[in-house]
Amino acid sequence: MAKVLILSGAGISAESGISTFRDSGGLWDEYDVSVVCNYDSMQKHEDVTIEFYDKRRSELESKEPNYAHKRVAELKNMYKKEIAVITQNVDNLFEKAGLKPEDVIHLHGFLTQLRCQNRKCNSVYDVGYKNQNDFNGGRCLTCNSKLRPNIVFFGEQAPMYEELNRHIQDCELFVVIGTSGNIIGVNTMAQFATRSILNNYESSSAIDDAYFSKVLYKKATEAVDEISQEIESFLKLH
Ligand code: APR
Ligand code: ZN
Repeated sequence: MAKVLILSGAGISAESGISTFRDSGGLWDEYDVSVVCNYDSMQKHEDVTIEFYDKRRSELESKEPNYAHKRVAELKNMYKKEIAVITQNVDNLFEKAGLKPEDVIHLHGFLTQLRCQNRKCNSVYDVGYKNQNDFNGGRCLTCNSKLRPNIVFFGEQAPMYEELNRHIQDCELFVVIGTSGNIIGVNTMAQFATRSILNNYESSSAIDDAYFSKVLYKKATEAVDEISQEIESFLKLH
C-alpha cells in the first residue's frame, strides 16, 4: 500500500471554477441537498435531480485542471506505488491533468458516468458531458431500466470507503487538500499517520487542525509546491 495518501475535496477544484459545497455561495446554498443528493432523490425528485447533474456535467466540459491538480498528477505519475490519490470530487480534473482512471479513487462517484438503477444489472456508462436523457433515452443499454447519475447520494453505500480505510491504515504521510471535513473525519485519520499536512483556504469547524503536523491556510495552487517538496523529501527518507 502507498506510503503517502493525498485526500482532496471540492477546494482543490475551486480555482478551476467548480463550486464547492459549503463555502458561502456554494452548491448547498443554491440547491437543497435533500432534494438532489439523497438516497430517494431519483424517486421523489427525478426531474430536478437529473437537471442538477446534467447542469454540473455540461459545465465540466469547459473546466480545466489548475496547478494543484497538475502537481498532484505529476507526483502520482512519478511515484505510482508510493502515493495514493483519493478524492471526494466527482469532477474529472485529475484525469484531465494526466492521471489514468485507475490512478485516482473517486469516493463519491464520477460526474461523466451514468449507472443502471437495476441493482442486478448495475451497468455503468461513460457519457462524457451529455445530458442523461440524451444517452439512449436515459435507459440502460443492457436491460433497458432507467439510468441515474453514478454519484453516491447521502444515505447510500459508498463502496470506495473501504479503499480509503485501507490506505489510511498504511499511509505514513497523510495530506488533506481542500475539504471541510464535514463528511470524512480527517482528524481521526491524521492520528494514524507519522506526519500529516492540512491545506484549506480557511479553518473549518469540522477539523481540529491541532491534529496535523503542518497546516497551510491558503489556496491549493499556492500551497501545492510546499506540499510537493514535503512529499518528495519524505519519500527520499522513507
Ligand atoms: N484552495 C484550498 N482549499 C479551498 C479553496 C482553495 N482555493 N477553496 C475552498 N477551499 C476549502 C474550503 O476552505 C473548505 O474547507 O475547501 C473546502 C470545501 O469544503 P466543502 O464545500 O464542504 O467540500 P468538501 O469538503 O469536498 O465536501 C465533502 O460533501 O456534499 C458532500 O459529496 C459532497 O464530496 C462532497 C462532500
Ligand atoms: Zn441495466
